[in-house]
Amino acid sequence: MNIGPDVGVVIAAAGSGTRVGGKELKQFRWVAGKPMLLHSLQRFQERPDVGMVVCVLPFSAVGDPPPWIFQCDTERMIVSVGGATRAESVRNGIGELPESCRIVLVHDAARPLVTDETIDRVIAEARAGRGAVAGLPVVDTLKRVDANGRIAGTVDRAGLWRAQTPQGFPREMIIRAHERAVVSGIDATDDAALCEADGATVVVVPGSERALKVTDEADFARADALKRLKS
Ligand code: CTP
Ligand code: MG
Repeated sequence: MNIGPDVGVVIAAAGSGTRVGGKELKQFRWVAGKPMLLHSLQRFQERPDVGMVVCVLPFSAVGDPPPWIFQCDTERMIVSVGGATRAESVRNGIGELPESCRIVLVHDAARPLVTDETIDRVIAEARAGRGAVAGLPVVDTLKRVDANGRIAGTVDRAGLWRAQTPQGFPREMIIRAHERAVVSGIDATDDAALCEADGATVVVVPGSERALKVTDEADFARADALKRLKS
């Protein structure tokens, strides 16, 4: 069955990268061979099931985006303006997606090395009517530590996962969750949390260590190394 390009992608790229610091925004800096945001923009556009990608940029960049952003299928790319929080940025991006996008994926520009297999898994779950989060099981032993560095307890890691992006949802599910979040004043660091709070079924699918989130300066070198190792 030919479903057509019914997947819409929102790439959250409107943060200010305070933990990395520096003059250039982290999502515009080069990593693993090209500007960070361009990695995911191109990766999603390589897929025939993707009908539109919205790049949500900081207000300061929207009027004059970096020229490399147009190294893509510009017919399937929209630039949108971000908000004060990640959730607000994502909401703005979702608002730009055409009606034909029945499946909505949300992805962090700060995860440049997302794999196609992970995207496949997330889309498959969303097509089945569930929210889906790429994630990895926690393998380290977890300690709860007080302000003095003293261990207050060991946390059972059974059933604990690290949530990544992309996260995918049926269009109605994610729109409703964001609308309700606005009404009830909920903020969250990912979109799945808003759907969970709304009572929707959200599952986790295997993500990848490659899809690390570039958070601090050392992560640039880590992403470069991962790209060299496994591309
Ligand atoms: N993001 C966004 N809008 C915001 C805040 C964050 O679109 N108001 C995006 C970032 O651009 C990033 C993703 O959300 O791709 C995950 O955020 P994070 O890694 O925390 O990036 P920043 O918020 O930019 O970094 P920091 O928290 O260090 O300031
Ligand atoms: Mg942040």
